[in-house]
Amino acid sequence: MTSAIAPAPPTGAPNPTATAVALGAAVDPSAALRTSEVVAALSTALDLTEGMPEGHALRTCLIGMRVAAEIDLPTTTLSSLFYALLLKDLGCSSNASKMAQLFQADDRAAKALHKRMRWTNLADAFRFVVRATRSGEVSLARIRRIAEVALGRHGGTQELMALRCERGASIALDLGFADATADAIRTLDEHWDGRGQPAGLHGEGIPLLGRILQLAQTTEVFASAYGPAAARRVARRRRGTWFDPQLVDAFLKAQRRPDFWPALAGERVRERVAALEPEDRVRRSDEAQLDRVAEAFAGVIDAKSPWTYRHSTEVARYTVGIAEELGIDAAGQRRLRRAALLHDLGKLGVSSAILDKPGRLTDEELVEVRRHPDHTLRILERVGPFRDLAEVAAMHHERVDGGGYHRGVGGAELPLEARILAVADQFEALSAERPYRERLDRARVIAILERDLGTGIDPVVFAALRRYLDREGRATAVA
Ligand SMILES: [Fe+2]
Ligand SMILES: [Fe+2]
Repeated sequence: MTSAIAPAPPTGAPNPTATAVALGAAVDPSAALRTSEVVAALSTALDLTEGMPEGHALRTCLIGMRVAAEIDLPTTTLSSLFYALLLKDLGCSSNASKMAQLFQADDRAAKALHKRMRWTNLADAFRFVVRATRSGEVSLARIRRIAEVALGRHGGTQELMALRCERGASIALDLGFADATADAIRTLDEHWDGRGQPAGLHGEGIPLLGRILQLAQTTEVFASAYGPAAARRVARRRRGTWFDPQLVDAFLKAQRRPDFWPALAGERVRERVAALEPEDRVRRSDEAQLDRVAEAFAGVIDAKSPWTYRHSTEVARYTVGIAEELGIDAAGQRRLRRAALLHDLGKLGVSSAILDKPGRLTDEELVEVRRHPDHTLRILERVGPFRDLAEVAAMHHERVDGGGYHRGVGGAELPLEARILAVADQFEALSAERPYRERLDRARVIAILERDLGTGIDPVVFAALRRYLDREGRATAVA
């Protein structure tokens, strides 16, 4: 936490050497961490993107693993299933912008409805569209057009689902998970009767783990929204259409056990999930693997909006460049890089309709956008190895004069790390194209930032950025 970091002077002239020592000391050297702890904690970020109540992925994991126990799934497969259940929504952000665009609505609300409605049925597709679209702004012609898309004509939602499934599966593979985990994520929205998406696979042509994911996620959505009876009802009603009949029978049997529903409630869901990882197949994360997790989630964050394509990875690059110039040691740089990769994690909880809006934001929209550092803080605080960088990551919109957000922290309370992130973040944001303005050239970006020296941004950090940019420019010229 920030207590391990030397406080910076009020107007922004910290001592880089002193801070570098403290940063290095703050890194947790433990390499024996369970991957499931990190993944389970970060799954709440995926819930946010999907418009799901917090803990959706965790509860889906509990349900899916109980179904698997009823059908005696072998241990090796159980391990693949466990991670597929937790990471099923890894591709969620990749179609968020398009969902918001298509339905002219909050993508999170549209996605939440999409999980409940039988959108392959005409009447339900219409209901879905009407409910997902902001009331009072819908013409009949538009409803018809959108409903056609919802029904799969013009390749509409099929394309959206393909994007989501493929992206999710590919991130899982990048993270080193088994092919079976990736296959399950890829086939999450396929239905037993062949009317699912994106491939329209049928019956046992859908991998077993994908069928378990589909049943577990849907029953969780209904249980959370309407209670256990609704979950049982949807399982029975969609037996043989959406769901594998044998799996429905296993679910109905499992949920009769007295500890089934109580396990899904309360504060200790994460601990119960951790206990379900097959003991002989426990995955552990070393520092390199934690870097990969941060990189993967940066990709998830950046995919949320076409305007932030590569934002987090670029901010991480500038952050490390500044840190090098300030003499921060390798451990401190690694910690800062992770904070930079994850600083906008909370944007997964902001509607893409707002993030992609071309015009001026309303006051309410501005409030929602300005909540994202707080979401970042709340998520990262729960991720053991990233907990000590949660505060810093969440301070990237703070200003030296205390006029930033989300807390209005400035002066000596604003640590060097946060000042570095703020400069890297602003430099990248100004350098990139935005829905409301063109890309700015480098001289203009520098001029804008210079106006904010000592009030918005730290002059020492800004000077370090300029040195880094010069160094980068020289390297590019030589190459
Ligand atoms: Fe941000
Ligand atoms: Fe940012």
